[in-house]
Amino acid sequence: MQRQWWQASVGYQIWPKSFNDSNGDGMGDIPGILEKLDYLQQLGVDLLWLSPIYPSPLADEGYDISDYCGVDPRFGTMADLERLISETKRRGMRLLLDLVVNHCSDEHPWFQKALADPEGPYGQYFYFRRGKNGAPPCNWRGYFGAGVWSPVPGRADLYYLHLFHEKQPDLNWSNPALRREIYQMVNWWLDKGIAGFRVDAIVNIGKPDSFRDYPADRPDGLADCCNMLAEPSAKAHLAEYLTELRDNTFRPHGAFTVGEVFDTDPAELAAFIGPDGYFSSMFDFAATCCGKSPKGWWAARRPSPTDYRDCCFSSQKAAQGVGFLSNVIENHDEPRGASHYLPLGFEEQPRAQKALAAVTLLLRGLPFLYQGQELGMTNKPFASIHEVDDVNTKGEYAACLAAGLRADDALEVIAHYSRDNARTPVQWSAQANAGFTAGTPWMPVNLRYRSVNAEAQQADPASVLNFYKKLISLRKDPAYKETLVWGDFEPLYTEREGLAAFWRRADKKLLVLSNLSDEAMLLPLPGPVRAVVLNSRQLPPELEQQALILAPWQALVLEME
Ligand code: NOJ
Repeated sequence: MQRQWWQASVGYQIWPKSFNDSNGDGMGDIPGILEKLDYLQQLGVDLLWLSPIYPSPLADEGYDISDYCGVDPRFGTMADLERLISETKRRGMRLLLDLVVNHCSDEHPWFQKALADPEGPYGQYFYFRRGKNGAPPCNWRGYFGAGVWSPVPGRADLYYLHLFHEKQPDLNWSNPALRREIYQMVNWWLDKGIAGFRVDAIVNIGKPDSFRDYPADRPDGLADCCNMLAEPSAKAHLAEYLTELRDNTFRPHGAFTVGEVFDTDPAELAAFIGPDGYFSSMFDFAATCCGKSPKGWWAARRPSPTDYRDCCFSSQKAAQGVGFLSNVIENHDEPRGASHYLPLGFEEQPRAQKALAAVTLLLRGLPFLYQGQELGMTNKPFASIHEVDDVNTKGEYAACLAAGLRADDALEVIAHYSRDNARTPVQWSAQANAGFTAGTPWMPVNLRYRSVNAEAQQADPASVLNFYKKLISLRKDPAYKETLVWGDFEPLYTEREGLAAFWRRADKKLLVLSNLSDEAMLLPLPGPVRAVVLNSRQLPPELEQQALILAPWQALVLEME
């Protein structure tokens, strides 16, 4: 596989509204990110992905864009963003923006013009359709729980399509004029000096040739809109648009792109991330999806550490020899990784968080950290549904009640899965509001900040933060980089519950062992140990001639003969 500059990178996602507030208005901003660039550089990350910073009514926290070529004044100015581009470059880092082109905001001028004249040229930028016997054109349920069609104000029996919130109308990619506008915008940003994009919700741009009903799958009589992704005409259009997008924008710029792609058939992986793929990389969401139910969060089952391992390992096997996945345990749409993948009672324990970190950082592919993950930030407590900000959580709460759950049980469900868990302000210090803002934070900080914060962890050599730093510098260490970045992956001891064990092999033979359980494990050694390269515990590992004892939650990297 051809070597590319980005393959050895470590990514870091910034969710700007909650990262760092420089002006005391309670919301994070770009100057706040600039203040923390040294912190990020010391952590060792080099690809920074900013969730949307464009002007937006924030119906879906910025994923509803009203101007693709602007910066929302809440986050700063274009000059601030240009400074961020040059300051990241000066530090050897690169900046990625979020490319959200399945939909825009209903306040975008394109949609405003389309509403004024649905039959005119801008009407062709969206999907306007007539209803069917007084009902919407088809029975799809959108990603946030409601129907995907909303009536066009003042037009009897005319609807527009939105797979997400009603304030996020879907863009009509079958229109070449729309596609040209998108390519122009993408190239404009790349010419400005960003290194590439994280590409949002992109599999949804290929729509089937007709909008037909699917069998209802919930008591609301609607059917999951994801059904359309399997339609041959939708797949064919997706392939056509993504090829064109790549060839007209990313490829001529040598840009890095990471796709938000769910549920890929292993046979289609090469089309997405192979040497001639649409994207450089895509997130591995196998563990994220594990246990989820089409019925909603109320019917989901939490994955065990063994499930987590098995999901990662099967993705690793599928991607090996094809391309590079981007490995995540959390992002702005998911519960905190420690709260989700560690068993109840262990989510706040640094030793357990380190064991999880070792797996996600040492797999083959690009690790992408989410802000605060490196500190072991965990889910927040919810006292009432009225505290919820996120549109998706509100939809899932309604689905819980519709399924017959009592209000307090519904609250417990959403408390675990809510996207707000990841969106609390980053815990910088033990000062008021976790040092995030001098004002009132737009969302309350998690009260664990008094003990879990960056300042305290920087001073503690045994902290989660310092363990993440060690893992990242190990990936970049010239002695091990070849093996950890380009080496192959092979699992072992998979019959052992709660153990993640794998080889990374190239010029070196590295054995990664991570005990994702609270029990000590006696393991046979597959050969003589040359060196202990990394140990998550203070005490040296208990190595015998042909075996070792892995302490509860211990992570080890051994160089083998
Ligand atoms: C995926 C984004 O990650 C999520 O936050 C957003 O709500 C949807 N796409 C819609 O853009």
